[in-house]
Amino acid sequence: MAILAPSILAADFSVLAEELGKAGRAGAGLIHVDVMDGHFVPNISFGAGVMKCLLGKTSLPFDVHLMIENADLHIPDFVTENTEYITVHQEACPHLNRSLALIRASGAKPGVALNPATPLSTLECVLLDVDLVLIMSVNPGFGGQKFLASSLEKIRRLKGMREEKGLAFRIEVDGGVNLENAAELAAAGADIFVAGSALFGAENVNGWAKFFDRSQN
Ligand code: DX5
Ligand code: ZN
Repeated sequence: MAILAPSILAADFSVLAEELGKAGRAGAGLIHVDVMDGHFVPNISFGAGVMKCLLGKTSLPFDVHLMIENADLHIPDFVTENTEYITVHQEACPHLNRSLALIRASGAKPGVALNPATPLSTLECVLLDVDLVLIMSVNPGFGGQKFLASSLEKIRRLKGMREEKGLAFRIEVDGGVNLENAAELAAAGADIFVAGSALFGAENVNGWAKFFDRSQN
C-alpha cells in the first residue's frame, strides 16, 4: 500500500497546525519531519520543539528524518506519542548499529537514509535492524529540488534485496516527488512517498488524495 508522507518543511511555518489539515486532505498517512543541522546538510530547519507543537493537533504519526550529525544525542528528543519512525543517515552515523538500536530501544521504528551517491551495499550489515530504508532522490538540505531519476533503479534493486532476504522493511522515497513521477516510483517499489513543495505548493490536493486513496491501493 502506498503511503503519503507530506514534508512540513514546505509548509507555512506560521500556520503549521493548519497546514496539517491540508496534509490530511491530500491523503497523508504520516507527517514527514525534516530536521537539518547546518553541518551534515547545508541548511538549518527546526528541532524537536517545533515538532512537539504539533502534538494534539493531528492523529497522524510522525516520520522523523534526521539530517544531523551526533544523532544519538538527539534521538530521545524526537520520541513522542506520535512518533512512528526515526530515520538517521548512513553517512552521518559512524556507529550506525548503535544509533538504530537506540531508536528501537526508545520505542520508535528505526530507519536508515541513503544519499543519492551512497550505494545500497552500505546497508548490507544493517538491513535486519531497520523498519524503513529512505532513498534520497535529491541531495538533502533543501526542498524544491529536481528529482534524480537514478533513484528509480536504486529502489528497484532495494526491493529485489528485500525479497531475496525475506525482509519486510518499508521503502521510502524523498525529494522531488510529484504526481508525475509517483506512479513510476510505486511501480519501482516505493511504499512511502515524501512530498514537500509539490504538495504544499499546490492550490488543490485532490490529485494527491486520488492517488493515495486507500481504496485504490
Ligand atoms: C530534503 C528533505 C525532503 C524535502 C522534500 O532534504 O529531506 O524531505 O524537503 O521536499 P520536496 O518534495 O520539495 O523535494
Ligand atoms: Zn526528508
